[in-house]
Amino acid sequence: MRTITTLLSLLVMTSFMHDVISDNPGTTPHLSEIFVGRCWDYNLIKYKTLMTMTNVDVDCEALWNAFFKSFSFQAPCSLSMQNYQEFMDMARQDLPVNKAMFWSGTYVIAHEYAQDSGRYVTLEDTLIGYLANSIVWCGSASDPSGMNSSRCPSWTDCPLEASESFWASASATFAKSAKGVVTLVLDGSRDGKPAYSRQSFFAKHELPNLDDSVQVVVLVTHALGGPARETCTNGSIVDLLGDIRNRNLQFKCIDDPPAIVHLLCADDPEARECKLVKRHLAPDSVKPANDLTFLING
Ligand SMILES: *[C@@H]1O[C@H](CO)[C@@H](O)[C@H](O)[C@H]1NC(C)=O
Ligand SMILES: *[C@@H]1O[C@H](CO)[C@@H](O)[C@H](O)[C@H]1NC(C)=O
Repeated sequence: MRTITTLLSLLVMTSFMHDVISDNPGTTPHLSEIFVGRCWDYNLIKYKTLMTMTNVDVDCEALWNAFFKSFSFQAPCSLSMQNYQEFMDMARQDLPVNKAMFWSGTYVIAHEYAQDSGRYVTLEDTLIGYLANSIVWCGSASDPSGMNSSRCPSWTDCPLEASESFWASASATFAKSAKGVVTLVLDGSRDGKPAYSRQSFFAKHELPNLDDSVQVVVLVTHALGGPARETCTNGSIVDLLGDIRNRNLQFKCIDDPPAIVHLLCADDPEARECKLVKRHLAPDSVKPANDLTFLING
């Protein structure tokens, strides 16, 4: 979902590298084919690997028509969340109890941990998120296709941008469907940005739409080797816990849950935090071999 932003910055970086004036891309080519293809894929194949998800009995062509109607032939900056309501109502799914996972600034690690709904279900594991992930779209009032294929505004260009309104509406829909214990993954090591922002999708569209019976578990991850800029007891996460308390929801906050530390260690086994794991695993008398030195000198 918000990978779109990541994708855009990647594209901007790429064009910068190629010395091209950076610009936003327009609507993804073959949008209708991708959308309808993803819909069939989700309903016939993908959802079967999502053991915990229920299927959505939906006509993929009808779903595309509802999606297309929401934004096409309209200026890209004038779309409200309400525009997508009919589409959301057609595509929404029940979520398995205790499985909903939210993320904010933690796309990669949250999705690794969620493991395609093996452990948790993210918005991108639902039909709504799966259909739209990483694609770009916006309307055009003048082009006969109803879409702008040369340039779509970025989220910062206008308050009600076509895909931002979509993701806001999708996030609200996802939050409304969450039951039992829900999990939020935050990054306490972000440079220059707080782990929790009241401008985030979680603050604006998810927290307000959670059911009153939901309990929230906040997982705060930190980069291996630090710094731990913010934790469960300081920084913006304290504001978050206050906002959750104000919604009268039960909650707990956990710094560096071992399961996530172990996932981070898969990419960086030599980090200090991961060597501790290695030392505990090694038999007392055996010192861990320094494999790298051995290879270089041997
Ligand atoms: C596409 O968007 C750009 C930037 O907003 C605009 O200049 C252009 O006229 C639009 N094209 C169409 C066909 O709407
Ligand atoms: C929060 O606590 C950590 C660990 O004690 C510390 O390193 C960090 O500087 C603190 N941050 C703030 C914003 O107080």
